[in-house]
Amino acid sequence: MLLKGKKIVLGVTGSIAAYKSALIVRALIKEGAEVKVIMTAAAKDFISPLTLSTLSKHPVLIDIFREDTWSNHVMLGRWADIMLVAPLSCNTLAKMTAGLCDNLLLAVYLSATCPVMLAPAMDEDMWKHPSTHRNLQTLAADGNIIVPVTNGELASGLFGEGRMAEPETIISSLVQQFKSAGRLSGKKALVTAGPTYEHIDPVRFIGNHSSGKMGVAIARELLQCGAAVTLVLGPVPGTFVLDGLNVINVQTAEEMYNACHSVFEETDITVMAAAVADYTPVAVAPEKIKKKEESWQVALQKTPDILKSLGQKKTGRQVLAGFALETTNERENALAKLQQKNADIIVLNSLRDSGAGFGKDTNKVTVFDRNGGEKHFDLKSKAAVAKDIVDYIIEYIHV
Ligand code: PMT
Repeated sequence: MLLKGKKIVLGVTGSIAAYKSALIVRALIKEGAEVKVIMTAAAKDFISPLTLSTLSKHPVLIDIFREDTWSNHVMLGRWADIMLVAPLSCNTLAKMTAGLCDNLLLAVYLSATCPVMLAPAMDEDMWKHPSTHRNLQTLAADGNIIVPVTNGELASGLFGEGRMAEPETIISSLVQQFKSAGRLSGKKALVTAGPTYEHIDPVRFIGNHSSGKMGVAIARELLQCGAAVTLVLGPVPGTFVLDGLNVINVQTAEEMYNACHSVFEETDITVMAAAVADYTPVAVAPEKIKKKEESWQVALQKTPDILKSLGQKKTGRQVLAGFALETTNERENALAKLQQKNADIIVLNSLRDSGAGFGKDTNKVTVFDRNGGEKHFDLKSKAAVAKDIVDYIIEYIHV
């Protein structure tokens, strides 16, 4: 039994694919899981609560305002090892993205402390709408695991993309998720993310376009795999779900250097995804510099190279991964960084690839290691790229 003893909350929403939730519940029970089902009101039009309560051997929960379920929403999200929403309709997808809470399923989603897996299902035109993609990217960036839709016959009679993944695929994604969860237990990880701001005066700084999305996705993936993760985070513009991470907020390259060195010795895995400024002003003016001259020079000096300094310090039990953000001679430059910084792994992303690099929700990377390994990955969401990188690191450790 692949899911023996696992506690699963299954959310069912209003989609024709809801009939498959009966097969999902049956398969989960067969694999030894304990299942509690929550339905939206719309889901009841597609499958009977009686079917799902009979199969799950628990009453199906629907009404947020019923006395016995009202206080349950917090407990359910804490009780579960994972929350699975299958099928996830377009409507519930949009509500989750907006953080709405007008039914029990959404209340449990918002208060869940466990990982959440989502299996969308909709007609092809709805699937292809830009708002659907925006919403899914937001939910993936929030750390939810998305089970991709498939191609095939749709409820409309048309053929195309938007079909919910088959129950067997969803069950194997769950099994895979539980396998991943223990892979790095007992390990300590350090991740850097975001830009650094090098101050010129109280109102101006030298910075860059890093949003922190790539680094935060890696930190969350390492956490999902069971590592204890310290995230050294530069001044990012957006907000992130950082639950479970030990976050050290920094502004400058020097602060990032100090934060990394304060934890590095006890760290097993380090991933440097931050875009650290290479130069910083020699002096920070105490007052705002007045506009006077036609041109203005700011004297700069090199910042400490954090990755290189950690490479000099690392021992044989530690794995050190850096990034290379390139615009020309990408492969050559990335391999040079691997050598010069004494890293074990370098993740190359190129600003010449559309959809890759700063600020985007997607990235396209090639990973190199010091044993000559090299692996190219397609353009994917940053959450999926983070998974590829962490899988690569785990494989590297075990080789
Ligand atoms: O944050 P996002 O918007 O999601 O964008 C992600 C990203 C593009 C910032 C990320 O994927 C990335 O490429 N990060 C590294 C950017 C960078 O500074 O690359 P680099 O080639 O200049 O530096 C090489 C490596 O040395 C990096 O691991 C960097 O963290 C490290 N470094 C650089 C300078 C310095 N003074 N100290 C360092 O440790």
